[in-house]
Amino acid sequence: MPLKTLQHALVEEHLAVVRDVASKQAHFKRSADILATALALELSADLKTLESSVETPLETTAVKRLASAPVLIPILRAGLSMLEPFRSLLPDSPVGFIGQERDEETAEAHTYYFKAPSLDGQTVFLLDPMLATGGSAIGALERVYASQPGRVKFACVVAAPEGVDAIKTRFPSVEIIACALDRCLNEKAYICPGLGDFGDRLMGT
Ligand code: PRP
Ligand code: URA
Repeated sequence: MPLKTLQHALVEEHLAVVRDVASKQAHFKRSADILATALALELSADLKTLESSVETPLETTAVKRLASAPVLIPILRAGLSMLEPFRSLLPDSPVGFIGQERDEETAEAHTYYFKAPSLDGQTVFLLDPMLATGGSAIGALERVYASQPGRVKFACVVAAPEGVDAIKTRFPSVEIIACALDRCLNEKAYICPGLGDFGDRLMGT
């Protein structure tokens, strides 16, 4: 599946805020919330709908309703920031959680928590703002695919080409949607130009 990047003037505006090292926690969070909302709209754009009808004050009209809500799974910790923006658009979505942490020296990710509703045949939206080496995403996708999901989409704010390639190689059917595709990783596996450590900037740690 190809990577999709969002093309929108407001996405550019809020990417500028989260990338800016001078942006303090409150501004960072506000722009991160807006970027997550833009991602939620894009990921939801082709969800299945069912024909229905409603009574307007004037007459009966045909409408389309969501056939079912996707399962939302944020990757802790930073992915938690994307959950409420997604839930505000998809309030009926079941929610799962995956805890993934990168070793600060080796950048290798390990799973420390997993709890999810049934994923059998379900559309799953996996949420993590940063896709760097892809280790965290792949660890999470291994858990998700063990439960025989239907379609799986991965939403991130900034992706590195290395992480995109890693997902495409291991899980070719995953649809990756990002606000931006950056240049490369540095020697510490940080995304360049990137925005630094998303979790630390969001949580003020
Ligand atoms: C960050 C980020 C991703 C991961 C991406 O999490 O939120 O989960 O790094 O890097 P990768 O693609 O190389 O695995 P981190 O491990 O810093 O944990 P945190 O969310 O708790 O801050
Ligand atoms: N995780 C982050 O938060 N930032 C990066 O640049 C890479 C991984």
